[in-house]
Amino acid sequence: MSTPRNLLITGGAGFIGSHVVRRFVTKYPKYRIIILDALTYAGNLENLRDIENAPNYTFVKADICDADAVAKVFTDFAIDGVIHLAAESHVDRSITDPLSFVRTNVFGTVTLLNVAKEAWKGRFEGKRFYHVSTDEVYGSLHDDSLFVETTPYDPQSPYSASKAASDHFVRAYGNTYKLPFVVSNCSNNYGSHHFPEKLIPLMINNIRNNKPLPVYGKGENVRDWLWVEDHASAIDTIFHTGVNGETYNIGGHNEWKNIDLVHLLCGIMDRKLGRAEGESAKLITYVTDRAGHDLRYAIDASKIERELGWRPSITFEVGLERTVDWYLANTEWLDHVTSGAYRSYYDAQYGR
Ligand code: NAD
Ligand code: TYD
Repeated sequence: MSTPRNLLITGGAGFIGSHVVRRFVTKYPKYRIIILDALTYAGNLENLRDIENAPNYTFVKADICDADAVAKVFTDFAIDGVIHLAAESHVDRSITDPLSFVRTNVFGTVTLLNVAKEAWKGRFEGKRFYHVSTDEVYGSLHDDSLFVETTPYDPQSPYSASKAASDHFVRAYGNTYKLPFVVSNCSNNYGSHHFPEKLIPLMINNIRNNKPLPVYGKGENVRDWLWVEDHASAIDTIFHTGVNGETYNIGGHNEWKNIDLVHLLCGIMDRKLGRAEGESAKLITYVTDRAGHDLRYAIDASKIERELGWRPSITFEVGLERTVDWYLANTEWLDHVTSGAYRSYYDAQYGR
């Protein structure tokens, strides 16, 4: 059990990061929480507006690839724990621009590891480097098996290859320099503040705007969905009670074929928007499949349940309703993040 007090959260202005920051800032008022984020297209200080005046919250705009800036944060705030979420996170973008994934996910993670190693040198007691990763490093399932912590890595996209490389570096620093670390590999998250380039918020936004719902291929790919606040609670549990050097898989026991999920969302949206049943589903449009599209991800999350007592707190039905409600109540957020650069991304990805 570690009890760091000066905690650096990288990528805290992003989707999952903002939920982790919110949880730690409110639940641990004695911790000093320092958020380091480069504020790329995916990072947004609006995600943290409700907590930005908390006395234990400090935001630093910096790039994890900038060793001097990161080292300064370690010195200025006597950082003794890291939760590392900063990353390029979208598979489709990794297909068009793999190098930016190598830069942030591989070079950036190693830069952060190096700074932590130097700052903590010889004083590893009570320190902890928590690396947040994805189930996509295990590759694509073509039978009914589940990913366990010992499943061999077999990444299939530039995104998952860059995350796999970063996971390997974290473990190498643990082995070589004795850096105290934990790693978790989580399934697909959904919830509020999710950038609408990913499946669920993109579909919600398009249904709301009566735009086509682009389903890749035949829509038969399967993902295992977890409510983002449950991921944040798992990160809290692992950070405080996980064992150094261990890996924990996190998942929702909640597999959905994309096309079934899109139909479910259409039904919820019809109800919420007062549309006739089946109205939104008419927007479904099958489009060219993603290159190298992984067929199925599914997590066996029994280790974290057995060893640390964590399990998801809500069902998908409840989580999805809450998620849709949030987007419908926060159309300003959606309109804001989908203006400007988002439009050119969208046109390039899906055509006008
Ligand atoms: P996101 O894209 O919403 O947010 C990433 C954040 O990192 C943004 O705030 C961005 O500004 C910041 N960032 C990007 N490059 C940076 C750099 N060079 N320096 C500093 N900050 C930088 O991502 P997310 O969905 O919140 O994912 C967070 C982490 O969780 C990632 O490591 C991702 O691989 C992992 N993960 C995500 C999911 C998911 O379903 N979204 C599932 C499992 C694991
Ligand atoms: P995504 O949210 O990008 O997550 P990931 O690829 O990391 O699992 O996509 C989830 C699934 O939805 C994936 O199988 C690809 C598919 N998808 C579509 O069918 N249409 C879309 O417009 C998007 C963004 C994704």
